[in-house]
Amino acid sequence: MREVEHPGGSHPATLVLGIGELTTNAPEAVGTDPVDDPTGVVRDAALLLDGGRVVWAGPERDCAAGVEAALGRAPDRVVGVEGRAVVPGFVDSHTHLVFAGDRSGEFEARMAGRPYAAGGIRTTVAATRAASDDELRANLRRHVDQALAQGTTTLETKSGYGLSVADEERSVRLAAEVTGEVTFLGAHVAPPELSDDPDGYVDLVCGEMLAACAPHARWVDVFCETGAFTPEQSRRVLEAGAAAGLGVRVHANQLGPGEGVRLAVDLGAAAVDHCTYLSDDDVAALAGSWAGSGGARGTVATLLPGVEFSTRQPYPDARRLLDAGAVVALASDCNPGSSYTSSMPLMVALAVRETGMTVAEAVWAATAGGALALRRDDVGHLGPGARADLVVLDAPGRTHLAYRPGVPLVHAVWKDGHEVVHPPR
Ligand code: NIG
Ligand code: FE
Repeated sequence: MREVEHPGGSHPATLVLGIGELTTNAPEAVGTDPVDDPTGVVRDAALLLDGGRVVWAGPERDCAAGVEAALGRAPDRVVGVEGRAVVPGFVDSHTHLVFAGDRSGEFEARMAGRPYAAGGIRTTVAATRAASDDELRANLRRHVDQALAQGTTTLETKSGYGLSVADEERSVRLAAEVTGEVTFLGAHVAPPELSDDPDGYVDLVCGEMLAACAPHARWVDVFCETGAFTPEQSRRVLEAGAAAGLGVRVHANQLGPGEGVRLAVDLGAAAVDHCTYLSDDDVAALAGSWAGSGGARGTVATLLPGVEFSTRQPYPDARRLLDAGAVVALASDCNPGSSYTSSMPLMVALAVRETGMTVAEAVWAATAGGALALRRDDVGHLGPGARADLVVLDAPGRTHLAYRPGVPLVHAVWKDGHEVVHPPR
């Protein structure tokens, strides 16, 4: 793996020159043309970073005036990227990285014809419970660094492989060491010791477990699916989490149709994830959640095409969602069962190839879409005020993310104004 740094400290003012194609996702901010392209592309561009933020973005020919207006002095350093494309750092709004063990045997059996089932989660629960804090911490850090090396600068992760008060509390506490986007997913499946009493387990999740986990988490989630939790049980969990001050997100409609998507919209969830099996009413509800919201507070449909890739399921139909006016994000769902990859470039490639998205839509969904799914306005774009989180691609344009699948195109990654993944020597 490419080496990753975690520098911190001061943020020198940095001018990045020679950007062949800059995706800003901020069309109004930088006067791009055409303005109706939400990805706000600027060709032959420059970016000025200061204090860990973008302070100016635009055509390189305008950068002297831009630097003067935004900084009023010469930058501390100038970096050239020699015509490469730059995109905002990927925002992976859905991962499960607090776990131990792997399930490659289950994957191999699946590729030999066995179907995916939610029950495999319990294999990882056993391994996670048996692991020490330090083992879990090291595994988590390794996965976060792998994601960063592939351009993911903002990452959500969740509990859900502990399923006891102590193991869930430990999971969210360790997750909070690596990200502010922590989700409490005690309601992943009922644990083996309570598999014949799911309602009793939901009581525990909504009571003692939530009380122990909420201080470390920003979000509550539930797996609303046959074999996991019913819509009624899911509603109880989500309402209890919301009452404890957590934002709502939902796993739903992964393995078949169901009520989870409408439940999520009904509760004002920030995102409902998977969305593989959708009815017309589900699509209308997702699109309708943005009407009159001022564009900021609807429910994002987060597609996780790594799951369909790794479980041989039919892919979700992004085209149908986008044409209806829904807001779509892409995330990796990195977990040892249904999608053991943290590669957002792969998600872009799969979304373009398999779900009907254009390249521009997929890149937007993997960056700005993920930010909306986390209700963040400081990431997922490179307009002035955004966090200086960006990926320099070893390619002249972002299309190469889908055009050259599997090729290591990440040349460098900047996070909070620091180059944390360096160009290969
Ligand atoms: O998002 N769908 C539920 N949970 C995970 C799978 C977890 C597992 O199989 O371990 C998911 O796909
Ligand atoms: Fe998931």
